[in-house]
Amino acid sequence: MPATILVGAQWGDEGKGRIADKLAAEADIVARFAGGDNAGHTVRVGEHTFKLHLIPSGILHEGVTCVLGAGTVINPITLVSEIDYLAQGGVVVTPERLAVDPRAHIITPAHIALDGAGERALGKNAIGTTNRGIGPAYASKAARTGIRAGGLRDPEQFGDQIEQAIAEGNRTLSAIYAQPQIEDAAGKTASYVDAARRLAPYLRDCAALVQDALEEGKRVLCEGAQGTLLDLDHGQYPFVTSSSPTVGGALTGLGFGPRYVTRIVGAAKAFSTRVGGGPFPTELFGTLGDRLRGTGENPWDEYGTTTGRPRRCGWLDMVLMRYAARLNGFTELILNKLDILSGLPELAIAVAYQIDGKRVTTMPYDWQLLNHAEPIYETLPGWSGSIMDAKTWDQLPANACTYLDRVEKLIGVPISAVGVGPAREQMITR
Ligand code: GDP
Ligand code: IMO
Ligand code: MG
Repeated sequence: MPATILVGAQWGDEGKGRIADKLAAEADIVARFAGGDNAGHTVRVGEHTFKLHLIPSGILHEGVTCVLGAGTVINPITLVSEIDYLAQGGVVVTPERLAVDPRAHIITPAHIALDGAGERALGKNAIGTTNRGIGPAYASKAARTGIRAGGLRDPEQFGDQIEQAIAEGNRTLSAIYAQPQIEDAAGKTASYVDAARRLAPYLRDCAALVQDALEEGKRVLCEGAQGTLLDLDHGQYPFVTSSSPTVGGALTGLGFGPRYVTRIVGAAKAFSTRVGGGPFPTELFGTLGDRLRGTGENPWDEYGTTTGRPRRCGWLDMVLMRYAARLNGFTELILNKLDILSGLPELAIAVAYQIDGKRVTTMPYDWQLLNHAEPIYETLPGWSGSIMDAKTWDQLPANACTYLDRVEKLIGVPISAVGVGPAREQMITR
């Protein structure tokens, strides 16, 4: 059985973690192919809520091997603490369960410091990064000066490399940014060396692992992080992440060919959210925006899993979702958080924009144009009463089905499942 690629259709946080958890039940391998601990994937199993940043959500299924592919960037400190965090939750992450590709790149303390310094220098034009060193780590990779995860094999030498990276980072911090030096360089280096000792046994050639698995007919799930609109090439540059969270990124980030891909699942929420800067044509302010965000009382309210920042919220934007569907070639769409729309008297969906007096139905590549795009909305009637206990499609209110039918029509891809709550069983398959 072949490869399934799961990709966020919006700006991240579409509920990919809980979808990956569902799809992982039928997978042998679950692999992250891009990004690093900027991701925050929430999976609720029974009473336990797991928040994962690096390790694929498949780890919660015993028979699944998890992979951090060549296209990822790894903070070894985060990875070690995530392994320990999972152990506390009763999930033992042995090197049999998790494989790290030696080709992946290491996020150093210098990358993190430079991420912060870069953002401060941008002032009000800041990207609003997660401050995890993602951009600088991918910059080092592209400049061919990065440290690869393979370096974890020799902890002492790895320590020297980290020391050098910090010294170099310090030179940039003072010369370019006039910022203070990285604190406690020796302590930071020592903890990277400790992390290397812990992580060395996890190194495995993951490209070969995935290729072998596919040739043997095993099932591989590629768990996307971030979302299509944050793609370095095809997102709303510069308000993007520094990797390719889209379908092509799965192939380069893991190292296998497209012939094995049979299923491309788009993940979206029933409304839109974005965290960080950048254009958001359907953003809602005031009561409606607050209503979609929630007060923070519920674990699923819209506050970042990684940074705790309140997420910007707005109506569903079908111009952008269609863009994502075409770019990735979605074969199906899974729509989460339909339950959040319950009780709203009227729902709106953007079907086009008015930009400079013209009707526009595709995403312009220039984000400045998007900043003054006026959404053209279609409105639909809402429904009342909770849908969180619905178990089948026909238990959903008629107006909820009308909303789903309309989304499906507008995106041109079948909706295969819908989330009516965060728990494993609160997902209705069609
Ligand atoms: P990811 O980064 O794409 O994995 O998404 P996050 O975990 O960052 O954010 C999604 C949030 O919505 C998490 O708190 C999930 O538990 C929650 N969630 C996902 N699907 C649903 C749903 O259908 N209903 C509700 N109420 N919450 C959901
Ligand atoms: P998951 O996998 C939402 C956003 C940041 C910022 C931009 C660049 O949980 O969906 P970066 O730290 O990557 O350089 O930040 O990208 N961003 C995310 N937003 N969900 C994510 O991941 C994100 N990862 C990065 O907020 O706007
Ligand atoms: Mg998230």
